[in-house]
Amino acid sequence: MAAITGPLSGDAKKVVADALQGALVDLVDLSLVAKQAHWNVIGAHFRPLHLQLDELVAIVREHADTLAERAVALGLNPDGRAATVAGSTKLAQPERAWIEDGKVVALFTDILEGVIQRLREHIAATDEPDPVTQDLLIAVAQDIEKQHWMFQAQR
Ligand SMILES: [Fe+2]
Repeated sequence: MAAITGPLSGDAKKVVADALQGALVDLVDLSLVAKQAHWNVIGAHFRPLHLQLDELVAIVREHADTLAERAVALGLNPDGRAATVAGSTKLAQPERAWIEDGKVVALFTDILEGVIQRLREHIAATDEPDPVTQDLLIAVAQDIEKQHWMFQAQR
């Protein structure tokens, strides 16, 4: 029994489900690795990076919730469980160690580049099946691309 039904079915629903789940995993893990770096960053630029990483976490958590709830509105079950995220994330993982400020900037420049590339693939994939979901993904990409700029600017 489907408790929630939405306007999509068949292949369109499957494409949108994959796009939303892929973006959700990216955003949930991004919030986790950003907290990891927020705690472990060291160096002369500790303070601005410590704060910037928490700003990133706040933005990403809000978008993750929006995408998960979009999935629910379409009758899909978002999966943000730790085991699911650990098993399907594409993000590079920082070591369990201090991370020098320059390495944090380089790491997050690379991580965000990957997230943006996958978001843009999801945006392309959802164009025809569901422009409403696509619109949400575009809003996510706008914020992530802004964050990417701000990490690049510190290199
Ligand atoms: Fe904190």
